[in-house]
Amino acid sequence: MAAKEYQRSAYRALTDQERAERATTSGGEPILEFGDGSTPFVDYVRSDVLLSLQGLRTKAPTEPAFLIATQVMELLFKLGHIEVLHVRDRLDADDVDAALWALRRVRAVQHQLVGAWELLSSLSPADYREFRDQLGDGSGFQSFVYRQWEFALGNKNAALARPYAGNPVTHGELLRALNEPSLYDAALRLLARNGMPLPAEVLDRDWAEPYQARPEVERAWRRVYEDPVRHQALHRLAEALVDVAYEFGRWRATHVLVVERVLGGKPGTGGTSGVEWLRRVADHRFFPELWSVRGAL
Ligand code: HEM
Repeated sequence: MAAKEYQRSAYRALTDQERAERATTSGGEPILEFGDGSTPFVDYVRSDVLLSLQGLRTKAPTEPAFLIATQVMELLFKLGHIEVLHVRDRLDADDVDAALWALRRVRAVQHQLVGAWELLSSLSPADYREFRDQLGDGSGFQSFVYRQWEFALGNKNAALARPYAGNPVTHGELLRALNEPSLYDAALRLLARNGMPLPAEVLDRDWAEPYQARPEVERAWRRVYEDPVRHQALHRLAEALVDVAYEFGRWRATHVLVVERVLGGKPGTGGTSGVEWLRRVADHRFFPELWSVRGAL
């Protein structure tokens, strides 16, 4: 069904006092009249547009669950990306408290993302087969907002911007994410500003290059972990970053499990061998020295 184009009403902010007066006038009941146009809720959420974006390709009863779960994940990737950029900027401003506060939201987003697999794990192989062919070459591998989020967290790989070369807007956004310092780069620069000796190649490098784990960085985190009282803020930051890496790992691991359950050993729609390829990707860990340091404590 095509989206109905509502006439959007002029938006006006309200004060607590105005709302209290209206609740008195209405006897505490909801507003039911909005004229011929939209409602203020629809104007803000754009749910008329959002709910018109489920272009199903088959009559398979499970295709809506597949498409809507995928769209929900895309929105959550977007939110995760926005929050991570905010955390990175707070670290650059030496505001670790605000960064930690925002990292709570990143984690909440990730819990939703892991939970969203529940919908897809309810698909049987027969359910999925009913609409899979209609996906053609389409694969989550081509999600640019996922890639933006991965780049912002620190998993840089210039080759993975290539699929979007035909779209200057998307490609431009991805190249920006590729070329900017990541959240982990910002965390390491913060470590250095707090007296941890880190080599220049870590603090100022070509940000588009894949991050290479280094013993000096592991040693810096080790100092933090060995005296968590003295380095309280950095220790909390380290563990909050591990939370993010851990939740990302859970999302990837659950993806592998769901794919194995639905698809078995078949190749993916995006051209890979499928589960076997995904397992390799799932081995990646964000913030590598925060993982390796655990073995050194
Ligand atoms: C039954 C559902 C799903 C199956 C069978 C499936 C299968 C696969 C397979 C086989 C791959 C490897 C690339 C390829 O050859 O296609 C892949 C990659 C990927 N999928 Fe899924 N997928 C499913 C659902 C989803 C959903 C809902 C999302 C969310 C947008 C998603 C996001 C991704 C991403 C981001 C990658 C690339 C991972 C990376 O490069 O790190 N997948 N998927």
